[in-house]
Amino acid sequence: MKIQLVTLDKKRTNYILPLFENGGVSAHVGKQLGPEDLGLIQLFLTNKPPLGRGASHTLFLPSGSTALLLGKGNKEAWNQRAARILVRAMVGEMKAGRVTEATVDIDDIRAEKEDEALLEMIAMELLMANLAFNEYKQVPKEGWPTIAQVNLAAKFAPSQKKQYEAAIARGVIVGEETNQTRLLSNTPGGDMTPSLLAKHAQKVGRAAKVKVTVLDEPAIRKLGMGGVIGVCQGSDDRPKFIMMEYKHRSYKGRPLVLVGKGVTFDTGGLNLKPTPAIYEMHMDMSGGAAVIHAMVAIARLGIPLHVIGLVPAVENMPSGSSYRPGDILRSITGKTIEVLNTDAEGRIILADALGYASRFKPRLVVDIATLTGASLVALGDRVNALFTEDEKREQLFRDLGERSGDYLWPLPMWEEYAEDVKGTFGDVANSGKSGKAGATAGAMFLREFVSFPWVHIDMAPTMTANEQDRLAKGAKGTGVRFFVELARYMAEHKEA
Ligand code: BES
Ligand code: MN
Ligand code: ZN
Repeated sequence: MKIQLVTLDKKRTNYILPLFENGGVSAHVGKQLGPEDLGLIQLFLTNKPPLGRGASHTLFLPSGSTALLLGKGNKEAWNQRAARILVRAMVGEMKAGRVTEATVDIDDIRAEKEDEALLEMIAMELLMANLAFNEYKQVPKEGWPTIAQVNLAAKFAPSQKKQYEAAIARGVIVGEETNQTRLLSNTPGGDMTPSLLAKHAQKVGRAAKVKVTVLDEPAIRKLGMGGVIGVCQGSDDRPKFIMMEYKHRSYKGRPLVLVGKGVTFDTGGLNLKPTPAIYEMHMDMSGGAAVIHAMVAIARLGIPLHVIGLVPAVENMPSGSSYRPGDILRSITGKTIEVLNTDAEGRIILADALGYASRFKPRLVVDIATLTGASLVALGDRVNALFTEDEKREQLFRDLGERSGDYLWPLPMWEEYAEDVKGTFGDVANSGKSGKAGATAGAMFLREFVSFPWVHIDMAPTMTANEQDRLAKGAKGTGVRFFVELARYMAEHKEA
């Protein structure tokens, strides 16, 4: 799919027309359509009930071109979130109508954003909506629906053209890396083992000039990562510890460290997950995938920052060699972990990764993980759980979440909850003894391994896309867009 910046100074073939409930075609676009085509559209709009948000209609115009009418609903309720969904709906409607090229006026999509931020958002969301996970399917006789080109019409001076095109190019980078993340997550567990995930990181890292180091089992053991070793004990696949580093030459400060959960399949271990909970657990490396491709995106964008990515990659399997409930594992920090439940494996491997992160004297560490079903129960599948003890950072992350499209909402991580993860025979228990506030228990556990500014994101709620997202079924690619916004913010604000 090619995304082309254009001006509305000549007639084009197909138009996407986002319309408010009682609004008409904007004068700007109307002029390009010509009286005959515009007349038909207006006739339709006066004779049909108003197009509600999300509604669509395809009109074949006298000139032979097509108009895709998309409902934006009530003007007063129009906002940034709706604008993102609209962009995705455009792709869906083009594919449904097998329209391969169309033009849209960016003013018809705009909520609050300025031209360049808007172009960037549109480009990335177009790409995200264009992705389908067909890798494992035979191609149908008529082929998969494809889109050749989307023209984004904007008003700009000739001197602004380069900047506007650069904005689209940035959106394309973020969209591509988000889609790569989704492909990784969607890949079945049998085809995405710890070593394959590590190979992938090496490949994409090399292409983007990101330094990638992969530690294998002996090196992991030597570092004292008893958590990673313990969780992977039951699997025939050996653990990998993936490290990525990107450093812009102009940046002199301490690094941002991103940590992602890389459980390539989570059976629950001996505390085996029942059907259907086990079904989507090949996506339990989604946090890790987001970190890998956020690193690549940040490098491709050339953001002036120093960023390190850490992804412990394991498979959680039941077998004769599995770790057991009651086992006590020694983490890299020396703290011991009492395993109450082998299905709370993510926090165990993250404990080692967080312990390791302290070596970089980080400015900030952010971990992202499909950590708890409890966060999904608490928040539903619209927004991720955010944990931090710093109120200013909480607000910053909520704002960046809103700006990026990866939404975040806070849950408590208070000292009062610490009691719940105290071990009986080890230092820390890997699941909350009360059985309540499960997402907070996960955060409280991780907090025991942290000695630097840190934020925890439980992305289990948005591991997969829901119906309203207007994305292909499967992984949503949570995290990449957020980390790009965070990196930009930290590059611009030295104090954050
Ligand atoms: N990977 C799961 C959490 C999960 C569930 C992610 C659903 C995405 C969708 C995690 O490893 C897990 O099993 N957590 C347990 C923790 C419990 C045993 C304390 C859970 O949520 O049940
Ligand atoms: Mn689990
Ligand atoms: Zn898991």
